[in-house]
Amino acid sequence: MATAQQLLGLIRSHARGDEERFHALTLQLAASEDRKGHKKLAGELRNLAEETLAKSQATIGLRTPPTKRPTPIVAPRGELAGLMSAAYPKTRLSHMILDAGTAGQLKRVVEEHRRRWQLQEHGLHPRHRLLLIGPPGSGKTMTASALAGELGLPLFTVLLHGVITRFMGESAAKLRLVFDAIADTRGVYLFDELDALAAQRGNENDVGEARRLLNSFLQFLDEDHGESLIVATTNHQGLLDKAIFRRFHLLLEYRLPDRALIADTVRARLANFDLKGLDWTVVSEAGEGLSTAEIMRAAEDAAREAVLDGHTTPDTQQVVTALHNRKSALRFL
Ligand SMILES: Nc1ncnc2c1ncn2[C@@H]1O[C@H](COP(=O)(O)OP(=O)(O)O)[C@@H](O)[C@H]1O
Ligand SMILES: [Mg+2]
Repeated sequence: MATAQQLLGLIRSHARGDEERFHALTLQLAASEDRKGHKKLAGELRNLAEETLAKSQATIGLRTPPTKRPTPIVAPRGELAGLMSAAYPKTRLSHMILDAGTAGQLKRVVEEHRRRWQLQEHGLHPRHRLLLIGPPGSGKTMTASALAGELGLPLFTVLLHGVITRFMGESAAKLRLVFDAIADTRGVYLFDELDALAAQRGNENDVGEARRLLNSFLQFLDEDHGESLIVATTNHQGLLDKAIFRRFHLLLEYRLPDRALIADTVRARLANFDLKGLDWTVVSEAGEGLSTAEIMRAAEDAAREAVLDGHTTPDTQQVVTALHNRKSALRFL
């Protein structure tokens, strides 16, 4: 148990909004519990200390003095502002509709990060570089939000179009800034649609520059030993260099939902409606070939129509028609 002095110190630092002191005292408490052999309690205290610290780092690249604001916002400043955007997502994995395998893998990764002290006691580290591969609208970008939401970390989305410039060597320098931030500020860093980095378009010079940038990216990935998570996504597995694949700890493949997941998606989107009358066999068959995002939109279409027609709930025909309409619209993409 904590001594009265320790408790007093914790409460005092909290009351004064002194997050750094609070963090230091929590770590001290963890160490003393550790010495008493209370390993589990010590690990939990260290995790809590980490959480408070992550929240108190108000600015990337600049540790600000203790702040009294309840939820300090981490905002990229200076040159970084054009290279990434920050958010604190509230998304959870439970908001996602995923096959059991993928859901299980993601839960495991979250667990590894939540209990990383336990791993570190055995010289192990949580997997922190994830590559998500799959068709558009399958929840890859959403997964990065959910990981940040689960771990209470900021989500930094790297703006690849901001990183990639036409000027020789400049892109690599910008990417360096991003990786410095990854090492400095714990968070989930999303490289969305990474193909942009590996795209081999344009004239000879562009190709040379793209290759150089790719090489820098690989080198920075090799140097990354931080506590941040790096999540990269791609729609086109074929476009990515095999050398990239090898540098990720976990490759997750996202697929179009099968019939059971199609029904789950419609059910989730229409949770406020009474769906007892729906013919799920017909509905799920009509949704085949659509992405989770498209099925959600179709379910919304059907609900809108039902409401404006004065019905209390969409019927099978409305849902099926909405799904078919979505499918025809896809031909234009
Ligand atoms: N697996 C999923 N579970 C829940 N919602 C999803 C899923 N996939 C897509 N969505 C919905 O569609 C939107 C777009 O999905 P997104 O994550 O951008 O797909 P991707 O990055 O794979 O193209 C999400 O914000 C969410 O509303
Ligand atoms: Mg996406």
